[in-house]
Amino acid sequence: MVTERTDKGMTAGNAAGGFQGSSDYVASEELMSAVNIAIALEKPLLIKGEPGTGKTMLARAISDALGKELIIWNIKSTTKAKDGLYLYDTVQRLYDSQFGEGDVSDIGAYIRYGKLGEAFRSDAQAVLLIDEIDKADLEFPNDLLWELDQMEFYIPETKETVAAKKRPIVIITSNAEKELPDAFLRRCIFHYIEFPTQEKMEEIVRVHYPDIEAHLLAQAMEEFYRIRSVRDLQKKPGTSELLDWLRALMLSGISPERLSAELGLPHLGVLLKKDRDIDTVRGGGSFDGRSRGFY
Ligand SMILES: Nc1ncnc2c1ncn2[C@@H]1O[C@H](COP(=O)(O)OP(=O)(O)OP(=O)(O)O)[C@@H](O)[C@H]1O
Ligand SMILES: [Mg+2]
Repeated sequence: MVTERTDKGMTAGNAAGGFQGSSDYVASEELMSAVNIAIALEKPLLIKGEPGTGKTMLARAISDALGKELIIWNIKSTTKAKDGLYLYDTVQRLYDSQFGEGDVSDIGAYIRYGKLGEAFRSDAQAVLLIDEIDKADLEFPNDLLWELDQMEFYIPETKETVAAKKRPIVIITSNAEKELPDAFLRRCIFHYIEFPTQEKMEEIVRVHYPDIEAHLLAQAMEEFYRIRSVRDLQKKPGTSELLDWLRALMLSGISPERLSAELGLPHLGVLLKKDRDIDTVRGGGSFDGRSRGFY
């Protein structure tokens, strides 16, 4: 199994190959390696990390970089494992039996596949993103163990087994709202996306805004990391907030010189979403290992 070659000519032996980030996604060496190992071992990759650290975007980047279709299964609090497999559309069948002209004895025509079913039935290998798995109840991950291990499921109504034509690359994200069951964790490769260093963050920003003025970026970055270091923030700003803030600064033509704590930072509401945090930061806050400042 481990010598099976992927589309990128990668084997488990040179698992550092394959996924190398994409033109609009900056991945650390560790993340690239986790992705490639998960692909080589044919196991789901479980990604955790602070909000906005690129967990969801990762699946899109893998699909772009490897030229594979992306199938997204967004998990909600009400999602059940079976929703991802199939649904038997009895209502349509009943309707057709009363008002339709066709033959309703073909139950297969009333099977609607879920996202996992879609990924299994795809002729080419797909990237399946199971996004925010921790939103569902605790049974959800356990209910998927068989399907993710064996890559198949049985439909009693048609007495058919749907087996993956090509094992999908499975990326699972979690915000750690709930702990996932051990049996589920055991079957996954795990990677925690660390919050980007200032250097990595500059790379990420440049992917989104290649023409951003260097001085504005440097000044904004300094202030952003200073705000993140304010103690007792209820919600630290993340990558998305920084990207939105930079956009707001560029759109309103703010000069880099204007970005200083003493002058009061503009558009603070783009970075901070809790009124108490805005008060804390405006009031000077207390910092982890940095000097006090006034916003
Ligand atoms: N490494 C990265 N390279 C490029 N863009 C990134 C990266 N990390 C984050 N971003 C950008 O930050 C934003 C948030 O990313 P994403 O939605 O993937 O985060 P997330 O971890 O899924 O967040 P949440 O936990 O809130 O769902 C996106 O606009 C994305 O483009
Ligand atoms: Mg996400």
